[in-house]
Amino acid sequence: MLKVNAINVSYGKVEIIKQVSFEVNQGEVVVIIGANGAGKTTIMKTVTGLLKPTQGEIMFEGQTISRTPAEKIVKLGLAMCPEGRQVFPQHTVYENLVLGGYLIRKDKQMFLKNIEQMYSLFPILKERSKQFAGTLSGGEQQMLAIARAMMSNPKLLLLDEPSAGLAPIYVKGIFDMIRKLSEQGTTILLVEQMANMALKIANRAYVLETGRIALGGTAEEIMNDPKVVESYLGAKKY
Ligand SMILES: Nc1ncnc2c1ncn2[C@@H]1O[C@H](COP(=O)(O)OP(=O)(O)OP(=O)(O)O)[C@@H](O)[C@H]1O
Ligand SMILES: [Mg+2]
Repeated sequence: MLKVNAINVSYGKVEIIKQVSFEVNQGEVVVIIGANGAGKTTIMKTVTGLLKPTQGEIMFEGQTISRTPAEKIVKLGLAMCPEGRQVFPQHTVYENLVLGGYLIRKDKQMFLKNIEQMYSLFPILKERSKQFAGTLSGGEQQMLAIARAMMSNPKLLLLDEPSAGLAPIYVKGIFDMIRKLSEQGTTILLVEQMANMALKIANRAYVLETGRIALGGTAEEIMNDPKVVESYLGAKKY
């Protein structure tokens, strides 16, 4: 579905992403694991067209999107839930979902169906539909941000560190949700530092180290790789 082929991405003269290749097949959950500053967000922004690769190619459903403007990429069915759960704080939960459904706004039935689906997946959002998003807890805001991205029926959902800044109890809730979305047929690419949880729900994984893919394999292979265990799964021996 998504094929990233040897891309380089730079900010000015500084090359951050170097020869990165990976792919996401229909129905998969794929995770890219990487430490702070490894280039995870840069990759997400490049896939969604906010940054352009200086080299290499990005294909979505057989079509090259490396030079396609971001707003066209969204319409092709790629939705991103950005880092730092950027909900609209002065709008209610419901209004945030309406804004997420912008692309399907003319299809009233589809819109209502999606709202109902999100409310049944995330009952807390239904309960709090009239509350201002800015007054939700961090975990609730993250759920809203994901639900909002899902409102446009994306073929591929991109999640940039959904666990960031959340207490462990919320992190589990978020990953349960991501698993549910996947079981309902959404293809998901996520980037994470929380390797543990992410690997449990992923089919395949890649490890990103200072802008390069250091390792790739099934989630199980990556989970059992001694280097991954030492660097990302918190099993360091002192
Ligand atoms: N707009 C920018 N201009 C210059 N350098 C940038 C810019 N955005 C990011 N960088 C640099 O690119 C590198 C990768 O950043 P990126 O945000 O992709 O990392 P990340 O893996 O998402 O990290 P984190 O886990 O902290 O979110 C960092 O060294 C960062 O300082
Ligand atoms: Mg980031």
